[in-house]
Amino acid sequence: MSQSATPAEKTPFHLKGNFAPVFDERTELDLQVTGAIPPQLEGRFFRNGANPQSGWSPHWFLGNGMLHGVELRGGRATWYRNRYVRTPLLDDPEGARISPEGEIDHTRSCANTHVIRHAGRILALEEGSFPFEVDENLETVGVHDFGSKLHSAMTAHPRTCPETGELLFFGYSALPPYLVYHRVAADGTLVQSEEIEVKGPTMMHDWNITRNHVVFMDLPMVFDLSLLASGMPIRWDDDYGARLGVMPRNGTNDDVEWYEIDPCYVFHPMNSYEDGDRIVLDVARFAKLSMSLADDGGAPAVLHRWIIDRAAGKVIEQPLDDRPGEFPRVHDRVIGLKHRFGYMAGVGSDLSALGTSLRKYDVERDSSWTHELGAGCQAGEPVFAPNPGAAAEDEGWILTFVYDPATDKSDLVIIDAQEFDKPPVARIHLPTRVPFGFHGSWLPDDA
Ligand SMILES: [Fe+2]
Repeated sequence: MSQSATPAEKTPFHLKGNFAPVFDERTELDLQVTGAIPPQLEGRFFRNGANPQSGWSPHWFLGNGMLHGVELRGGRATWYRNRYVRTPLLDDPEGARISPEGEIDHTRSCANTHVIRHAGRILALEEGSFPFEVDENLETVGVHDFGSKLHSAMTAHPRTCPETGELLFFGYSALPPYLVYHRVAADGTLVQSEEIEVKGPTMMHDWNITRNHVVFMDLPMVFDLSLLASGMPIRWDDDYGARLGVMPRNGTNDDVEWYEIDPCYVFHPMNSYEDGDRIVLDVARFAKLSMSLADDGGAPAVLHRWIIDRAAGKVIEQPLDDRPGEFPRVHDRVIGLKHRFGYMAGVGSDLSALGTSLRKYDVERDSSWTHELGAGCQAGEPVFAPNPGAAAEDEGWILTFVYDPATDKSDLVIIDAQEFDKPPVARIHLPTRVPFGFHGSWLPDDA
């Protein structure tokens, strides 16, 4: 593998330290554990991230996708595996993404952002492309375009409705149509696709669902093709404005109600739900965002609440915290429904200090707990794994990879979500480091 020729002092944050890629694809069966793995956790924890095969990428978001997984069974950690998601972009880096006729090849995916399961398929996702299916051992099965019905990119942040089993998602693009909405039935059939009008080529990383609606975020991070040479042709636009679009889940563009909000950017909502005529959205809100590597993304996000008052035709905005955080998650059972608990990774002064602590919020009682990680350690996204059959929303465990610079290795850490500020109940010691990445899922055997 060729390594970057960039002088060390100029190496961007996403290629240094534990952001730097690993190059071995490993299968490790003999894992050491401190503590006791809850025997109720039967399944696999998978997490995706950018891991440039060449050793270099122009931006953190643009490395080839590598999945890291740990299987838990009978109170044991039976394996750790890491595998590239094998896409045409991985095998042929020089190929063209846009044809001379202007057609986008949605199979040229980094496949690096998230990994989910729906209708029995495990999908590696990246927002500019089609999903790629992988198996339970992280081997790539191939591209999944919903039986040739999908004709846009698919966000890396679809939502599975816990009540209907539907998979709701959208795709955005730098070229028209800029936004397309999709609804997939519980059996995996793509049943609806609708073009949605937005002001321009906005980067819509994530979105929101509720019991009856979806909420689009039309925010001022827009494509600017004059920046193509930078590798990330997206910039803040002071003139674009910002708005939220509410649409019935089986609606069309004509049904979208748009609500103006103060300009900002949100990569990741925590959750959203309906409260009568109001829609409540808890989000990790950046006051302003930069995609430039020169400033490591700018000031980090803070948990914020938007309340869309549909009767009054306006949005009420209020901060829920003043401490930076990202990668918000809730129990999958409350997605689109009223949540009480949420989890986030605490963030230091910039994105390279992501996950320096973990945080649990009780948004009903306006309280929070912090899980400290130890000197220099950094965690990833906190993923909630429920105790099967449990009634309480927080009865389960938080799973996340934690990197320790003292050993240059990572652990899969298991934290009792009801004893959040206590030490982990188990640490599964991996014989390698897991580079800081993006999103993951707990995939229980019984789901
Ligand atoms: Fe994301």
